[in-house]
Amino acid sequence: MSKNKMWEDYTEEEILKANIEKYDKEEVVKFYQDFEEPKYSYIEYTVIFKAVLGLLQKKMQEPVRAVDMCGGAGKAAFALKSCDPDCEVTLVDLADKMLDIARCKAEKENIDCRIILKDAFSFLEEEAEQFDLIVFSSALHHFKDPISLLEAAAKRLSPQGMIISIADPNTMIKSKRFLFLQFMASNGQLKKIAVKRCLGNIFSSQGSPAEEEFDVAEYQTFAGIDDMALSKDIKQAGLSPLLHMRYPAGEPAATKIMPWMGLYWAFSMVMCHSESVGMYHKEMGALKQEVERSLPYKVKFII
Ligand SMILES: C[S@@+](CC[C@H](N)C(=O)[O-])C[C@H]1O[C@@H](n2cnc3c(N)ncnc32)[C@H](O)[C@@H]1O
Repeated sequence: MSKNKMWEDYTEEEILKANIEKYDKEEVVKFYQDFEEPKYSYIEYTVIFKAVLGLLQKKMQEPVRAVDMCGGAGKAAFALKSCDPDCEVTLVDLADKMLDIARCKAEKENIDCRIILKDAFSFLEEEAEQFDLIVFSSALHHFKDPISLLEAAAKRLSPQGMIISIADPNTMIKSKRFLFLQFMASNGQLKKIAVKRCLGNIFSSQGSPAEEEFDVAEYQTFAGIDDMALSKDIKQAGLSPLLHMRYPAGEPAATKIMPWMGLYWAFSMVMCHSESVGMYHKEMGALKQEVERSLPYKVKFII
């Protein structure tokens, strides 16, 4: 999407509109349809979900009530169900075509999952139900103000509940190392586009980052999410980080190479109500060891 407007000037409503348009497009929906059987393993989902669900189950007598926010085709929702079949899972997304992919999979594999067509703020602000686990998978980067979103989520979180943010990019995606690796891994056509864009930026007087072309729907990927700031700022939302890790997401081969280049470009954060940190404090050391032991690549724990 080419615009003369500065990146920072887009409003949350404009980003929402861009997301509605994007996830209605045939080529985007087709990508997720073909992705039904993941090309990559995304092992971090099952590792983190199993560890967190294990902690929640210890504190609860009832099945865990979970919601996959901006869940699209249901990757996180189905991963939650595979980790804990008793978990009551709700999937929320604004795109009916994405939810259709999830509906088909749920029916085909006989997975019990409630599916709701709604945008995230409307769902979090209009409903009254409480959840023990709220997941944002590859979702925070679609919002201008992830803190307001997390604040709305915190209001729907049970006292012992946890929020997981997973598979979002940190600011490393703007580093030359990341761009180089992305360039090397892309096909010929994408390489041509990247070279053209790069030359365009060198020779154009309008090459400032704020005026570069970018996809408004992917708002935060323009600069990457400052996960360090996020882990501090969530305090405003009454939340505290229990775990904050950076990792090298992607194809299995790439996840082995990236750590050697220092490219821990994705992050995951597990949060809870600030007043509930004490409830989990002692168990976090063992949880981190479990996560580290179960992942086939190196990760960096920030917290
Ligand atoms: C990158 S996809 C991720 C889908 C899924 N969570 C996953 O990990 O595969 C982003 C999804 O967020 C949805 N989305 C974007 N903005 C949203 C909003 N404001 N409310 C609800 N869903 C939103 C899109 O429709 C899309 O399905």
